Amino acid sequence: MTSQDTKISSDEFRRVCGHYVTGVGVVTAMVENSPIGFSINSFTSVSLDPLLVSFYAAHTSSTWAQMKHSEFFAVNILSESQHELISVFSKKGIDRFAGLDWEHSPVTGSPLLSNTSGWIDCRISQVQDIGDHHLIVGEVLGLHAVSDIAPLAYYRGKFVSLAS
Ligand SMILES: Cc1cc2nc3c(=O)[nH]c(=O)nc-3n(C[C@H](O)[C@H](O)[C@H](O)COP(=O)(O)O)c2cc1C
Repeated sequence: MTSQDTKISSDEFRRVCGHYVTGVGVVTAMVENSPIGFSINSFTSVSLDPLLVSFYAAHTSSTWAQMKHSEFFAVNILSESQHELISVFSKKGIDRFAGLDWEHSPVTGSPLLSNTSGWIDCRISQVQDIGDHHLIVGEVLGLHAVSDIAPLAYYRGKFVSLAS
């Protein structure tokens, strides 16, 4: 039996997986001296030795098609006050960094957004095709967390605050 035999629809798959609470992040990189980035909720920590993290990028992502040429990327962990950035960083045809406060990572130069609850700075270590996504594994070169800024959570298609 394969998953195709089950007739589970993609809507049902999304609905059930949406019951798993995740954080939300913006993956960023510098490409040809310009900052690029897109919203993700597929971030996972993978390994302690060596230090590895991962995320998934859809085969259709035009931002990943550019980002794969960079040696590095950063995962910006969004805080509860930054839910509007999710739609900015998933919208096509706009300058996603326009009017935004950010700086270069002191470690790799990747763009770090201001006022996040943390960031993880990585070198691209492995990229594999899995279904209709690429699995991107990053070797962690730097990281930082701000404990008094609450993170944003994503649950059943909505952003929820963990502050309480
Ligand atoms: C909450 C949320 C989580 C997302 N997570 C992912 C993800 O993990 N991987 C991915 O490829 N796209 C994800 N997306 C979609 C991308 O942000 C968006 O489709 C993409 O940036 C489209 O533009 P692009 O062609 O510039 O990549 C997510 C979108 C939202 C709103």
